[in-house]
Order: sequence, then C-alpha cells, then structure tokens
Amino acid sequence: MTDIIQELENRRSAARMGGGQRRVNVQHSKGKLTARERLEVLLDEGSFEEYDMFVSHKCTDFGMEEEHIPGDGVVTGWGTINGRMVYVFSQDFTVYGGSLSETHAKKICKVQDMAIRNGVPIIGLNDSGGARIQEGVAALAGYTSVFQNNIKASGVVPQISVIMGPSAGGAVYSPALTDFVFMVRDTSYMFLTGPDVVKTVTNEIVTAEELGGAKTHTTKSSVADGAFENDMDALMEVRRLFDFLPLNNKSKPPVRPFFDGYMRKEPSLNTLIPDNTNTPYDMKELVLKLADEHDFYEIQKDFAKNILTGFIRLEGSTVGVVANQPMVLAGCLDINASRKAARFVRFCDAFEIPLLTLVDVPGFLPGTSQEYGGVIKHGAKLLYAYGEATVPRVTVITRKAYGGAYCVMSPKHLGGDVNYAWPTAEIAVMGAKGAVEILHRADLADGEKITALTSNYEERFANPFVAAENGFIDEVIMPQNTRMRVARALAGLKSKDVKNPWRKHDNLPL
Ligand code: HXC
Repeated sequence: MTDIIQELENRRSAARMGGGQRRVNVQHSKGKLTARERLEVLLDEGSFEEYDMFVSHKCTDFGMEEEHIPGDGVVTGWGTINGRMVYVFSQDFTVYGGSLSETHAKKICKVQDMAIRNGVPIIGLNDSGGARIQEGVAALAGYTSVFQNNIKASGVVPQISVIMGPSAGGAVYSPALTDFVFMVRDTSYMFLTGPDVVKTVTNEIVTAEELGGAKTHTTKSSVADGAFENDMDALMEVRRLFDFLPLNNKSKPPVRPFFDGYMRKEPSLNTLIPDNTNTPYDMKELVLKLADEHDFYEIQKDFAKNILTGFIRLEGSTVGVVANQPMVLAGCLDINASRKAARFVRFCDAFEIPLLTLVDVPGFLPGTSQEYGGVIKHGAKLLYAYGEATVPRVTVITRKAYGGAYCVMSPKHLGGDVNYAWPTAEIAVMGAKGAVEILHRADLADGEKITALTSNYEERFANPFVAAENGFIDEVIMPQNTRMRVARALAGLKSKDVKNPWRKHDNLPL
C-alpha cells in the first residue's frame, strides 16, 4: 500500500515539473509565471482541484512516441475566487510550447462542458505556440471543438481569457469568442499571421509587438478589453472583475457588503456641468461619485474613449455603466464607440446585469471616414442592443441628448425603465446654432437676427422640460441626489420581468 501511495506521489511530482526545470527557468527569465503558479495567484489559496493530471498525447509521428509529459501542456480543473466556483485551464508553455494537441484540447473541452453543465464561469490562461505541429489535422480538430464549446457557453456562463504569452494563428479565435480578453504588456501577443508572413505577403515590416501586442489590441483593434503590467497584476485584476459577475445567466450577480449609504449626496455634482455648454467635463467623475466606494471597473478604457463602459456597484449589487465622455470628441458617438458599447450592453443583458446609461451626446460624428466605414450599421448595433435588452435600465441625461444619438442612448421609447434628466439637460433634434442655420438659411447674412433666433431656440429647447412635459423624462432631478435616485429606481426594478417575443435568434446588424 505504501508503495502504491508513493507511486502516486512520484507521478504527481513528475506532472508538476511540466517541461522540466530548464524550461521553467526560461519562462521565469521572461518575467512570466508558470501555468501552475498562475493558478495559485488566480484562485483562493488551496482551492484548486486538478483534473486529468496524467493525460498524455497519442501522437506517434516525429518521434513523439518516445516522450510523454503528463498533463500534455495544459493544467485544468476548478477552484474558487473569493469563495465562488470557477473552472480554469492554464496552458503550460514549458511543455511543447503550450501547443494544443488532440488530448490537450480534450482536457479544455472537458472543463468547458462541466462549466456549461454546472452553470459556472470559465477562465482560460493562454500561453501557447498554437496547434501542435507534430499532430497536424488532429490538433486543428481539437481547436475547432474548443471553439464550438466557446460558442455553446456564450451567454450561458461568463468566459474570460487572459493572454499571457503567444497566441497565434487560428488559436486566437478561442479568446475572441469569449466575453473578456485581457493581455499582459510586453510578454503577450495575438495575431492570425506573424510578422514573417506579413512581410512576405504585404511587404510590411512590423514587429510582433506592433502587430499584436497589448497596446495594439487595447487601443487600435479592440480585440482585448484591458492590458496589465505583468502576470500578477493581470490575474489580480481578473479576480476583481470576477467579483462583479454572476455565475451564469440564471443567477444574479453577487451582492457584496457595502459601507457607503445610497443616500450619500454629492453637492459637487451641482457644478459638474460648465456654464458654457460646449466646455467638456469628465464624465468619469460622475461615474465614480455614483459608485459604491467610488469603485469603477472599466472595460476597454483605452479604446473609443468617447464612451465609457464598465461595472460599478450600487447598494452592493453590480450595475453596468455606459456613459458618453464629453472630454473626447465632445462625446460624439462613432463607429468604435457604438461597437464598444453595444457589446457591453449585450453582455450585461445576457447576464441579467442592470444598466445605467449616462447621456451627454451631441450626435453621431460626421464625416466620410465614418460613413464609408459603415457608421449606419455600427450605430444600429448599439440601437439594437439597447432595444432588445430586457434588464432593468435607468438613464440619466446630464447635458446634451441630440438627434439620432438621443434615440440610441436608452430613451424610454427604446425600453428605458426610468429616465431622469438633470436641469442642465438639452434634449433636441440638434444644437441651437445648427438648427437655426438650417431653418433660416436665407437670413444667414443677418448676424443680429441669427443671434436672436438662436437664443430663442435655446430657450425653447435647450432644457429638459419639453421632454418632461411629454413624459419622455420621468423626473428632472437634482444632480447631487443622482446616486440616491438611481439606486432607488433600480431597487424598484428588481423584479422586472419582460420577455421579447420567441425567435430562433435575432439578426443583429453585424
Ligand atoms: C509543437 C512547439 C510549437 C508547436 C513551440 N513549440 N510551438 N511544439 N507545436 N506549435 C515548442 C518548441 O519546439 C520548443 O520546444 C518549445 O515549444 C518552445 O519554443 P521556442 O521556439 O523555443 O520558444 P520561443 O523562442 O519563445 O518562441 C515561441 C513561438 C515559436 C514564437 C511560439 O515557438 C513558434 O513560432 N512556434 C510555432 C508557432 C506556429 O506557427 N504555430 C502554429 C500556428 S497555426 P523545446 O523542446 O525546444 O522546448 C495554428 C493553427 C490553429 O495554430 C488553427 C485553429 C483553427
């Protein structure tokens, strides 16, 4: 019996060595943690339960039959984050460069299946040279099964990917199918075809970092939702995000203890809006002042900065925030902002997270690059996302809500449940100057007349009262009371139960 137990211990120790000390040293010398060290940081201490530790590959080509490393380059199982269960897989770059074989894929699929069956989120830590070259099509088949499971899990359980090394070729599509993708600066990259192929095909000379590093994907492509300095930071931030999320599409997000009464007034908000209606102010200040303990988890903070998306808590419960940012492009909606916000709204709706929309938007950004880029279709994504969202929705218009952008930003007619405006709100088809120039084109030379007409228009429309008289705004509220008003509105919507008509699935304008 002692011998048998000793054998188990020996086998476990061998598996924990991964690709051996030399390769572990190389991993560390790049500033990277190993697959198992990463799981220790991500999960609560001692909570990790490993599966398939002894699984090994079935390949008999290229001399592979001579070498079998237990675990086959990926560590899988489950653990807890602040006491809540999560399935995990962590690719081990020290074993065949973390490359994906048929058995490696089966291990990932097993935890994906369990996550779906048990209604538990799944987090993947990616560090891989892609398809196991020695296995050929068997590895491709394995990838495709992982993709299929990503799609099955979408909207059922939250899926988070952290890119902590290479992610190249078709392999990038598993993270791309998940809800959130995070990258580690300088040590991770994602691209379909690497710099060498790019040079051969297009003659462009580009480094791996420029082509697919964290900066590229968080500022240009929006493939990634956030970038962090190192492995530790990335994993700690994923723990922080996890605490905002529900376990699955049928359970509510966790209610965390809060030490910040919802009645907290913020008199400074009464002067947040500058006297000059065209002067920018920082919408993030409002978000932070509304949030419990001023805690805002921003998603895609370096992309399309003209709109803010992220999570806060009100009275301990998670709320998804979408807010125009007047500091960038005057808060205009454009292609990128529409795509960014639409995806966020759809995530929140899929997982029953209530939405708070803060509006200060002068309209859609004009210009050929926007029109040629399909701003009509991309803007429609946001319109569609709000229009189909059945979660509790509260909207606060702080200043401008003009034209089509008013129609998009969760007004009552698009299913907004409780819509507030600050006294500084201007709800109109367009700004006064533009309106007068169109309506009185013949008088444009008469400066005095135009000024008078403009102030006339401002007086009539640059306020929230026309909308309030029509019931399009439920109440004009004091800025300082916004936290209380929003919290109470959401409390009143807790048992909201609205369903869209049955359909196989919708046809979102992609
Ligand atoms: C098998 C691999 C491997 C792979 C790396 N290794 N990639 N083994 N299959 N795909 C092994 C190496 O042989 C080496 O083994 C160890 O991992 C570490 O690799 P190094 O090259 O020494 O590391 P590094 O210098 O850091 O370079 C990492 C790398 C490079 C940039 C990822 O290894 C590389 O370019 N690999 C190939 C990438 C690739 O073309 N993959 C296929 C993409 S197409 P030893 O024994 O020396 O430690 C694809 C299709 C998916 O993935 C389609 C899905 C639909």
